[in-house]
Amino acid sequence: MPDVDITSVTVGAAGVGRLDDGRVVFVSGALPGERVEVEVTEHKERFARGVAVGVYEPVALGRRAEPCPFVAEGCGGCDLQHAHEDLQVELKRRIVLESLERLGRCVDPVVEHGPALAPLGYRTHLRVRIVEGKPALRARGSHDLVPIDACLTAHPLVDELLAEAHFADAAEVTLRVGARTGERLALVGPRVGNATFPADVEVVGFDQIAGARRAWFHEEVAGERFRISARSFFQTRPDGADVLVAEVDDVVGEVAGSMVDLYGGVGLFAATVGKGRDVILVEQNRSSVADAKANLDGSRARIVRARVEDWKPSRAPVVVADPARAGLGKTGVAKVAATEAERVALVSCDPGSLGRDAGLLAAAGYDLVRSRLVDLFPQTSHIEVVSRFDRR
Ligand SMILES: C[S@@+](CC[C@H](N)C(=O)[O-])C[C@H]1O[C@@H](n2cnc3c(N)ncnc32)[C@H](O)[C@@H]1O
Repeated sequence: MPDVDITSVTVGAAGVGRLDDGRVVFVSGALPGERVEVEVTEHKERFARGVAVGVYEPVALGRRAEPCPFVAEGCGGCDLQHAHEDLQVELKRRIVLESLERLGRCVDPVVEHGPALAPLGYRTHLRVRIVEGKPALRARGSHDLVPIDACLTAHPLVDELLAEAHFADAAEVTLRVGARTGERLALVGPRVGNATFPADVEVVGFDQIAGARRAWFHEEVAGERFRISARSFFQTRPDGADVLVAEVDDVVGEVAGSMVDLYGGVGLFAATVGKGRDVILVEQNRSSVADAKANLDGSRARIVRARVEDWKPSRAPVVVADPARAGLGKTGVAKVAATEAERVALVSCDPGSLGRDAGLLAAAGYDLVRSRLVDLFPQTSHIEVVSRFDRR
């Protein structure tokens, strides 16, 4: 097995080095500055992928023993536990920086760290597979499943259910809780069957949700209360959502006037940053739109159920856009530009998409002023960034 010097890190937090034949190799479990022994798992003509099986020169103050016992059993739920939290956020910052430079062709982009959030016990949303009645998560780099009866990153209200619920013959379960309301919901697939949960948990099957049944829980963020249905997206932690709201407000708060909230979900930004403004919220998901209508009742928001790609843009001085992983892309950027907004807050959950969107926005007349990392998912390579774009 080859030894490789790791020189940088890339999306997914894989270390980057070179094999003796000159090909780039992406090595999971390796950190920049280390020399590692690599088991190559995939050969391509121009690059390879592998896993670090031995580390010769650990980075001083960077590498640590993984705090979760299930990592040693192969659990792939968290892929950055081998790095201290300070190093985790710095690696993520470098990934964002590199993506903005390489994909977005941004010159000297400013990428800042946001405030630190609790590194453990934060996930209020956890989807598990059920194997012989036990919850399980995907193994690293494979479709195998690793049984777990606890999760260090899960919120205590979720963690408790991993140990206390009886999953019986379910195939998969999504556990969702309101950390600040204490409300809990279990979405069980394909049906509830013999699964049982503590009495406070609202339990609903995929089959029931596909029919007429509605099920939701509530969460509080930035002083507002949100209804969140079983199939509606919501940020994975309310303290992180507080920070996202504060960061978006920091970007657009000083610009007066109406706001367009693209990919608006159940109304997180419309109800907070958009409070007191005329808001147009655009969202495609039926369940999220129903929640947004309930959450924004009595406000000045108009909710449009549509794909952003199909929406007929209205003019507004402020746009907040929080797309899924694919980012805005060409069409999304064209919609943003058509609003003639003077200020855009882009919330990105994929650094590659952010880089591409920054390039497209620049071509459409919007300059990147700064990006700020909000580390919503410590221990994992997931990246969340709030960026400010000003119209040229
Ligand atoms: C990352 S979530 C953000 C939601 C909301 N801004 C929040 O913070 O809670 C992205 C949202 O975009 C919606 N979505 C995904 N693709 C879309 C599209 N093409 N057009 C409109 N909405 C879309 C999803 O249903 C989801 O609610």
